[in-house]
Amino acid sequence: MQKSILIIGACGQIGTELTIALREKYGNDSVVASDIREGSENLMQSGPFELLDATNYEAIEDVVMHYEIAEVYLMAAMLSATAEKFPMRAWNLNMNSLFNVLNLAKEKKIDKIFWPSSIAVFGPNTPKNETPQHTLMEPSTVYGISKQSGERWCEYYFKKFGVDVRSVRYPGLISWKTQPGGGTTDYAVEIFHKALSEKKYTSFLNEETKLPMMYMDDAIWATISLMDANNGDLSIRSSYNLGAMSFAPRELAECIKTHIPDFEITYKPDFRQEIANSWPASVDDSKASQDWGWAPEFDLGKTTEEMLKNLEQ
Ligand SMILES: NC(=O)c1ccc[n+]([C@@H]2O[C@H](COP(=O)([O-])OP(=O)(O)OC[C@H]3O[C@@H](n4cnc5c(N)ncnc54)[C@H](O)[C@@H]3O)[C@@H](O)[C@H]2O)c1
Repeated sequence: MQKSILIIGACGQIGTELTIALREKYGNDSVVASDIREGSENLMQSGPFELLDATNYEAIEDVVMHYEIAEVYLMAAMLSATAEKFPMRAWNLNMNSLFNVLNLAKEKKIDKIFWPSSIAVFGPNTPKNETPQHTLMEPSTVYGISKQSGERWCEYYFKKFGVDVRSVRYPGLISWKTQPGGGTTDYAVEIFHKALSEKKYTSFLNEETKLPMMYMDDAIWATISLMDANNGDLSIRSSYNLGAMSFAPRELAECIKTHIPDFEITYKPDFRQEIANSWPASVDDSKASQDWGWAPEFDLGKTTEEMLKNLEQ
């Protein structure tokens, strides 16, 4: 029998593309999308959908039992910029949703979990370049604190209860199908929309703020590859560093100018600058390469081409 998968927070930037990719791989009926709101037409029409609150244990359990779910991908969270405005709501959503799925696995009601962490687990005292897998962390944002705590709990449930939970620290993700959901790297998506519609963009990060970034296709590939990896090959049960490219707004703008020569960028840093300042410029993801063959395909040039080509259509 084909295994059944539940995606919680399926209508967001990552969940939308992950749902479609998993439906292509395992069949539409095997992949149940869920969220507190409805999603894109393609997502809603290509397979089963449930309105589901990630903080409600009983509601998740009902869906898990009804569809005989084996794997849960927990994508619901409050992201970095929004979480600074609503700290308690962010903590409640980011932590309780994770406990709900960890406890379902502890109770043997599901077999496997994917839960995403973030480069936000690192802080201002972390080495900035090629940030190691294991290093000083000390996150300084609400979101980063919730992600670091989440990582500790994942490893704890793995060691204490044998819960098969897998995780990556996504960098900023660049995609064109769904709008980003309130993160500090959202500028790297907005800039493409504005470059095409207005030929100008005002960046909320300053020109030299270099951050780790990734094109969505690579992120989806990483997620599915990690979930497919042999249990025994995985040496990290907190969360794997994951990198693809690193650039600052100025470098992205220069790359866009090679396609749209009269594109102009200006800089007006806001509260998100401080968040970005606390994050790494690049990460060492060699553990992910060694353990499950991680290798990104998209660099800045290829990402820019894909974004402009797809958004133009
Ligand atoms: N996008 C990025 O650049 C990035 C980077 C690092 C980590 N991540 C992590 O990846 C995961 C997915 O991120 P995303 O960018 O797709 O976020 P997003 O904000 O685009 O999507 C999150 C989804 O969760 C849903 N949601 C919110 N509250 C919910 C609740 N109570 N119950 C069920 N659903 C709820 C929202 O409606 C939304 O559709 C998050 O854990 C995020 O922290 C994202």
